[in-house]
Amino acid sequence: MDRIPIEINVNDEKHQLLVEPRTTLLELLREQLFLTGAKEGCGEGICGSCTVLLDDKPVRACLTLAVEAAGHRVTTVEGLSDGEALDPLQQAFIDHGAVQCGFCTPGMLMSARALLFAEPQPDEKQIARALSGNICRCTGYTKIVEAVAAAARNNGDRR
Ligand code: FES
Ligand code: FES
Repeated sequence: MDRIPIEINVNDEKHQLLVEPRTTLLELLREQLFLTGAKEGCGEGICGSCTVLLDDKPVRACLTLAVEAAGHRVTTVEGLSDGEALDPLQQAFIDHGAVQCGFCTPGMLMSARALLFAEPQPDEKQIARALSGNICRCTGYTKIVEAVAAAARNNGDRR
């Protein structure tokens, strides 16, 4: 299949890549850029483990075509920290024991990051709603919601 040249900004770095029309953003991230934080769980838009930000809005990378992301700004979990300094959400997930197996964590963090961009001081219902598309098989969600609330209190809207 013919490949199409695209330019894409991922974690503040510009990349010129060749992609097939059917290539998903998740495949581009994982297989061409070797950014393996976004996970493929269901591959069908259900689990949220592939969530990344497109211009600060959460999207399912498994359902987004790479060509749709061309010319936009993509942020993955690898782009959350500032050098050695963790994003307040990452620190809060650690502090509150919100990570068990970790498979859902990158997607959870990106959905939570999008929430705090849009609503820096969310209440518990807003947090639960923002994370409702992210499935976690391990934690029971309580600690995740607590972690997001704590990050919001602790300068979660730092950007
Ligand atoms: S892998 Fe994309 S939503 Fe499950
Ligand atoms: S920590 Fe295991 S799926 Fe969420």
